[in-house]
Amino acid sequence: MNKEKDMHQTKDEVTINGISYSIDKLEKDCWIQLVNGSIKSRSPFHTPCVATLTNGALSMRTVVLRKAFPLLKELRFHTDIRSNKWKELQNNDSISALFYDASTRVQIRVNGKAILHFNDTITSEAWQKTTLSSRRCYLTQASPSSFSAIPTSGLSEEIEQEKFTLADSEAGAKYFGIVSIQVESMEWLWLNHAGHRRAFFDYVHDSYKWMIP
Ligand SMILES: Cc1cc2nc3c(=O)[nH]c(=O)nc-3n(C[C@H](O)[C@H](O)[C@H](O)COP(=O)(O)O)c2cc1C
Repeated sequence: MNKEKDMHQTKDEVTINGISYSIDKLEKDCWIQLVNGSIKSRSPFHTPCVATLTNGALSMRTVVLRKAFPLLKELRFHTDIRSNKWKELQNNDSISALFYDASTRVQIRVNGKAILHFNDTITSEAWQKTTLSSRRCYLTQASPSSFSAIPTSGLSEEIEQEKFTLADSEAGAKYFGIVSIQVESMEWLWLNHAGHRRAFFDYVHDSYKWMIP
């Protein structure tokens, strides 16, 4: 078989593991990977790095991807509304998330605007599904990022050891927030020994383009 043909089935498609992708099919596949990442805790796409910007200063952190909505072009993660990232996003709604799967050598970068959900139906539904163990994140006395004289989780011993009831955990609901990323653009990069491939999906201008990696 012609190796060149195998690599580039047609000029405007990319072939990965024997499957050809048009740019539209590739875009859909990226979102399938993101949905998988939101569902499967072992997926490398489960824990993206999310960047925010306030007063010219960047900050990044790992979060758990909780939801991905391919048609709405929306991603969601949970956080404490007392956290720095929440305050940063209140000041500046620009947000970026970065995913990398070392097994497939695929990087996905998204850029967009954050919508902050608090005390609404989206947060109350998600809070109901939040396990006792995960609710501990919202039960610290002092705010996340506040300094402490000793190394501590910020939780009481009972809460730390999960000796508390679901009713007790309701105290955390007032700090439970959801960041919704309204994805404005997405970039896909595939590292390949025979030449990398890159694509850009612009949802604002509804334009998908191949790029030089
Ligand atoms: C694997 C992993 C997953 C995390 N998931 C979340 C998360 O979903 N939400 C969150 O607020 N913080 C999460 N964190 C903690 C953040 O990375 C960060 O340290 C913390 O939220 C404080 O960030 P901030 O000061 O920018 O608000 C996670 C950390 C790791 C290592």
